[in-house]
Amino acid sequence: MSKIERKDQVQAAVWQDDGSVDVLPGTPARLTASDPIQTVLQKAISRRALLKGAAATGATLVIAPSALLSTSRPATAAGDPSNRLTFATVAAGDGSEPDVRVPPNYSYSVILKWGDPLTPTAPPFDVNNQTGESQAQQFGFNADLVLWYPLPNYVRRSADLTGQLSKLAERVIGFQYPRLKNRASTRALMVVNHEYTTGADMFPDYVSGNPTQDQVETEIEAHGFSIVELTHDGSAPTFDIASPFNRRVTGSTPHRISGPLRGHPMMQTMADPAGETVLGCLNNCAGGKTPWGTILTCEENFDQYFANFDDVPAEIKVLSQRIPAPGGESGRRWENFVARFDLSAHPKEYNRFGYIVEIDPYDPNDVPKKRTAMGRFKHEGAACRITSANRVAVYSGDDARFEYVYKFVSDGSYSKYNRTANKNLLDSGTLYVARFDAGDVEADDMGTGVWLPLVWAPGNALDNAGFTSQAQVLLDTRGAADVLGATPMDRPEDIEVSPATGKVYVALTNNSRRDGDPGQTRVVNGREVSSAPDEANPRNDTYDDGDPSSNTGNQHGHVIELIENGNDAGATTFTWNIFIKCGDPEVAAHGTSFGDVADPVGAGVSPISDPDNLVHDDDGNLWIATDGQYYSGGDIGFGQNDGVFAVPLEGANRGLLRQFLSGVPGGEICGPEFSGDNRTFFCAIQHPHDGIAFSISDKWPPGESDVSKPSLIAVNENFGAKIGA
Ligand code: FEO
Ligand code: CA
Ligand code: CA
Ligand code: CA
Repeated sequence: MSKIERKDQVQAAVWQDDGSVDVLPGTPARLTASDPIQTVLQKAISRRALLKGAAATGATLVIAPSALLSTSRPATAAGDPSNRLTFATVAAGDGSEPDVRVPPNYSYSVILKWGDPLTPTAPPFDVNNQTGESQAQQFGFNADLVLWYPLPNYVRRSADLTGQLSKLAERVIGFQYPRLKNRASTRALMVVNHEYTTGADMFPDYVSGNPTQDQVETEIEAHGFSIVELTHDGSAPTFDIASPFNRRVTGSTPHRISGPLRGHPMMQTMADPAGETVLGCLNNCAGGKTPWGTILTCEENFDQYFANFDDVPAEIKVLSQRIPAPGGESGRRWENFVARFDLSAHPKEYNRFGYIVEIDPYDPNDVPKKRTAMGRFKHEGAACRITSANRVAVYSGDDARFEYVYKFVSDGSYSKYNRTANKNLLDSGTLYVARFDAGDVEADDMGTGVWLPLVWAPGNALDNAGFTSQAQVLLDTRGAADVLGATPMDRPEDIEVSPATGKVYVALTNNSRRDGDPGQTRVVNGREVSSAPDEANPRNDTYDDGDPSSNTGNQHGHVIELIENGNDAGATTFTWNIFIKCGDPEVAAHGTSFGDVADPVGAGVSPISDPDNLVHDDDGNLWIATDGQYYSGGDIGFGQNDGVFAVPLEGANRGLLRQFLSGVPGGEICGPEFSGDNRTFFCAIQHPHDGIAFSISDKWPPGESDVSKPSLIAVNENFGAKIGA
């Protein structure tokens, strides 16, 4: 199949013009078995040759690793945060690599793979004999969010003895977490999300559209997240299978509905007439850590799990008109075996998904809570910062095309050392949505902004638009944000707050539907929206599809830097600028920009597309993981495996982005995360060999014989230096 044919096939499977799910689960493949790896490699080289004008001369263009090494970094002052980033730039993989690549003085290790037992009594993985019961005791599929938490020895000993979080242990965490989170720790807890499943890459006999009951039950248990304990006792961390903290939360684990929607009539179902308990969290993507050491994990593309939205009664359907589920059968057919996924029989079950979930990793028995005060949408990212009034702000994106950026500010005050006092802070507060304005000058990649409060009151704009209560605003958050005039963005993925400066970074991964000219509109998820570029989403590319007269939208994405007024996370106004416009700096048509770097090519900036997951190191540099670089850029494609990139945000090298890690074909990279001492880097390799996990000859991780497996990896400098050296 040619690449363009394959792209057509992929686009034919586009999910309801939704945005964040471009390919139905279980449908083919960014890579296919009929696409031998050498062909992929040749296409990648052809793409570069074409883009760089070498095709006409017949020149063979080979990108040598040495060509990407940085040689001209500006001199920096002592203390410049970029001084630690001295690693040798890693060449981008081009679809042919069998393994993850890291700089020469680094090594990586696989900590956990899909199916690995998480307790001594859990069954070993058997690809031909998978059940929900076994998967519920094993590391789940498609690892995504990765978070690291220090584990004091006392807390581990206490849990060994009692099997729970004692009051004293909780006090110890309360006092020590703010200090220990930035230090070395011989024990640590790690949470890893399991975003979604792909039956064709899990079961050798999977039939798309006709799964077996065992397969469906296995898929449900492969969702959610894992909490595991790691031991840092040598050069690389290892998994401690004996830890009492190891546990799975899955698509069937009871969750407490918390906050304003707890017990609301629209949350009440036949199985849960009180509207207080829901089974499972689904499609958990990027998330974040609270200042008191709990996990915030976000339900993103929850729509794809439900069937028969067409049959939902109108008074319930109206709450989800902006986030519709499939009208008929779902792609996964879970409804064939688990009735609650059939909305014709259980219409309100849908209202119970799409939330930020909080759970305490230090409490082996903690019941996860869906924090409904932060709204219902395709949450991605949950970055916390304390406001000047000592409230908690949580930033979160809605990852779909033309959706919004949100911020929640708690009513209650944060207690730095009294952990239990913070436990329900996220149940009450004000939810805002962002409007990005042009500022004084048009088209200068910067502007001002306003946080619009999503607060219903009699006679206000939401009331006048037909909203009847705050509960309705929280259930139909997108619809309420439409009313207030929020700015539709190019797929907000992860959000992070710099620990060094308090500035907020928003990854906008791409938007192939931002392809209109001024005045043109599209109908997206039930509402009409401008498809033309705007100040904060300025890219509408016109290259790469072989037709210079047609637009291809924002193919490579950008990263926005948002600065709160007075540098206060509680502010209701902000300024913003576009920190990076992604793409290949060697290709003029991409129109890239990288912070303050005047000559990105001369400075050795790496090509990057589709920024997704973010993390800061403890010097305040930004680390970016990508999702979907290979096929980005119209029909020709960007042609490089997903990777991890480090970029200084401050100082003389602001914007000098360089590649640190290159993944394996077909696999996006998630996490990323650092240990407290920044001497271990973690990330997840999600869906390696997507669509060809069984058929590819060299499986990943190396040594696997049945199938390539999503995995959590750790990266260390060989002599134990801080990551970046
Ligand atoms: Fe699950 Fe938007 O990435
Ligand atoms: Ca402007
Ligand atoms: Ca993501
Ligand atoms: Ca992150």
